[in-house]
Amino acid sequence: MATVIIYSTRHGATKKCAELLKFKLFGSELADLKEALDLQLSGYDTVILGGSIQAGKVKGAFRKYCEKNKEELLKKKLGLYICCMSEDKQAEDQLKNNFSPELYEKALAKDYFGGIFDFAKMNFLERFIIKKVAKVKESVFKIKEDRITKFAEKFK
Ligand SMILES: Cc1cc2nc3c(=O)[nH]c(=O)nc-3n(C[C@H](O)[C@H](O)[C@H](O)COP(=O)(O)O)c2cc1C
Repeated sequence: MATVIIYSTRHGATKKCAELLKFKLFGSELADLKEALDLQLSGYDTVILGGSIQAGKVKGAFRKYCEKNKEELLKKKLGLYICCMSEDKQAEDQLKNNFSPELYEKALAKDYFGGIFDFAKMNFLERFIIKKVAKVKESVFKIKEDRITKFAEKFK
């Protein structure tokens, strides 16, 4: 009954959520996307995939990994999450649009976990965009631990 949480992050929030999930799913393992490329999924019966959203999208390499491994992932107990700062319908749409329909339908748990606007980790352009679009001037921490707890409960 092995579990692996595979995440792809830009500024660390998706990793932080993976760590919180790992803490709640005793005995689970973490792999960032680079490590996951060498991972044998056959060793796991549960796989959780977490992606970071920018401009509505997860990283291309993460999307490709999910597509390439789709047939094998469809045989697993599957969980999907994204980190993003939107809420409600916009966040739900981002979740749905960033995984293939088959993976989305198959997932036992799928949710958005909030995120972080971390000004210290953004480059100049990112800071400029976030100040303009989100109208925030300093870092905002909005990881939703209650959603992570509910998500984890579905795998127990
Ligand atoms: C340049 C930039 C663009 C972003 N675009 C979106 C977006 O389109 N939708 C959204 O909900 N959040 C957006 N966010 C918020 C991120 O999803 C949030 O910072 C999240 O925590 C990123 O995860 P990470 O730290 O693992 O990379 C954006 C953040 C940055 C810096």
